[in-house]
Amino acid sequence: MLRAGELVAFPTETVYGLGADATNDDAVAAIFRAKGRPSFNPLIIHLSKADQVERLAQVDGRAALLMQRFWPGPLSLVLRRAPQCNISLLASAGLDSLAFRVPAHPLALELIRQAGRPIAAPSANRSGRVSPTDTQHVLKELAGSIAGVLDGGPCRVGVESTVLDMTGLHPVLLRPGGITVEMLETVLGPIEIATGTQEAPRSPGMMESHYAPEIAVRLNASSVAADEALLAFGPDTLPGAAETLWLSRSGNVDEAAANLFAMLRRLDRPDFTAIAVMPIPEQGLGRAINDRLRRAAKR
Ligand code: TXA
Ligand code: MG
Repeated sequence: MLRAGELVAFPTETVYGLGADATNDDAVAAIFRAKGRPSFNPLIIHLSKADQVERLAQVDGRAALLMQRFWPGPLSLVLRRAPQCNISLLASAGLDSLAFRVPAHPLALELIRQAGRPIAAPSANRSGRVSPTDTQHVLKELAGSIAGVLDGGPCRVGVESTVLDMTGLHPVLLRPGGITVEMLETVLGPIEIATGTQEAPRSPGMMESHYAPEIAVRLNASSVAADEALLAFGPDTLPGAAETLWLSRSGNVDEAAANLFAMLRRLDRPDFTAIAVMPIPEQGLGRAINDRLRRAAKR
């Protein structure tokens, strides 16, 4: 199906991707249509082996080191496109850079390998909505506009890959994700974190409102109303919510990340006025969780 230019959703360790042949303009255009995604927001290119990036982009020593250390894994590297690169210009949305990653999921790797070409894949949700972490989420939003979905069960990491811009003098974190800042800094030393609110956002996908459920999201809750749902974190919950789901009872941010999107979906019901969320520590995957929650809370 991918070789024929069709759209196929597939599991990765982070979230489900909406895949298409990255070298086929029509197939890439179909991704933007199916998601309702603005065409200025570029896609991540998925490869089955790190060495495939060499004929597609310029790889310096630092980028090579990161690939060696973190691929396969939830790290997307933004690199300068190589002159002979055959990836559709639509995939990079007019930028002279491209984001690449090798996902750490056996089904994803086998699919990309058998397709025999780079696969462009945004998260398999409608634009602006919460990313899917199982096939039911994918089908709910995209059934009818995709050729198929490969079922790998729930995603292990649960938040999207880290996006790191390697095109400048210093690496810049564009999106916190599955590879934590602490992990990157063991290789790179202190890294710059893009604020995203500047005139020209460097990662066009990091618009303020994103990852949004239908109902309101309220952060850092220290109390909860009777008509609100609660996402609890840690052993002590808040009393009085209409319904409570635990991101992690033991206060483990990795477990919370794996639960986050599925629980936001389960609590996104019109009979609640809002989803209140208890504070999550800004450490490890907590940084990615808080980033997504802040965007979900923006209206
Ligand atoms: O974990 C993930 O990254 C998942 C799975 C399927 O791999 N994919 C994903 O893709 O989250 P998407 O399209 O939902 O998010 C890609 C992000 C967007 O914020 C986009 O703006 C940014 O990466 N991005 C892609 N190419 C870029 C580029 N050349 N320069 C700057 N940002 C880029
Ligand atoms: Mg997305």
